[in-house]
Amino acid sequence: MQTGEGKISSMASPSSAVTLTKMGVSHVPQRYILPASHRPNTLPPFMNHHLPIIDLSSLQNPFLRPQTMDEIRIACKEVGFFQVINHGVPPSVMKGALDAAVEFFDLSMEEKTVHASDNVHEPVRYGTSMNQVKDEFQFWRDFIKHYSHPLSSWIHLWPSNPPCYKEKMGSYAKEVQVLQKQLMEVVLESLGLNPNYLQDEVESGSQVMAINCYPACPEPELALGMPPHSDFGSLTVLLQSCLGLQVLDHHNNWLSVPVVEDALIVQLGDQLEVMSNGEYKSIVHRVTVSSEKKRFSIASLHSWALEKKMGPAEKLVDQEHPASYEEFSFKDFLDYISNNDIMTAKRFIDTLKKK
Ligand code: OGA
Ligand code: NI
Repeated sequence: MQTGEGKISSMASPSSAVTLTKMGVSHVPQRYILPASHRPNTLPPFMNHHLPIIDLSSLQNPFLRPQTMDEIRIACKEVGFFQVINHGVPPSVMKGALDAAVEFFDLSMEEKTVHASDNVHEPVRYGTSMNQVKDEFQFWRDFIKHYSHPLSSWIHLWPSNPPCYKEKMGSYAKEVQVLQKQLMEVVLESLGLNPNYLQDEVESGSQVMAINCYPACPEPELALGMPPHSDFGSLTVLLQSCLGLQVLDHHNNWLSVPVVEDALIVQLGDQLEVMSNGEYKSIVHRVTVSSEKKRFSIASLHSWALEKKMGPAEKLVDQEHPASYEEFSFKDFLDYISNNDIMTAKRFIDTLKKK
């Protein structure tokens, strides 16, 4: 239901998972029911305690550093995913951000739809599916996304309600930005590149925060909170309130990501796959929903600046390893998702692979 300029009126509210759960529906509406091949397993999640957990404080210890660098290299190469502990983001700041998210999604639909838009280029956007207007299937998620770096350029556009939102989400955004820079240096070093290579790109890069709410779902075996996808950017730092995230391993098994106290999840995105010339892979992930629990997550999606085109790092390209990807920008990705249905289209990264 559009009211010009991509704004969505509150008439669209029945397509919100939060609203449907509040109404107490006992079945998910047809548009949330996925084709059988896309439904999650009904078996209890296969918990993988082998998914890597990296203690970042050991990078400061000269005796432990080489082994930790190896662990990071292996995690990036084999999974494209790891969790970090002792990462420097205070647990109180993480909790504050989750509290702000809980309060935001508790607001009335009228207050949230102030920010509603189906235009993926809006710097602040509340929505209920990847692409509400075009996509055939809907996902059991409400979200608000906002640009976050540099904070002073964007924070005035963020929700003014709940009153704590800007302060709590802003503190978290700043801390994660610092962590992300450190992670990027370590990842570059693990590829044999200068840790400061790309310093300007990282400094002037973008940070989009996706704050997600997955309400309890009456038929979790028929729906998903988010379909399989990889993130477009360089790194994503994710905070989850409870189980729900699953990652796809090399054997095409979906592994549930265990909740580790005070940890943050790090996922490699398409820009890193391209920059590393395929040495590292972006991780495909999805979100399952639960019949009992409402889940929140905060994904901080980092990328090079909107229009910055980037291909494989020159140092990683030679006769034996020719460039295997076309260069692309964050903007190219946005154009792609606004013109394609995520359930049926090719993965964006696959459109960049050279034959
Ligand atoms: C995302 C995402 C996972 C989650 O926002 O891109 O994959 O657990 N989120 O919410
Ligand atoms: Ni994602």
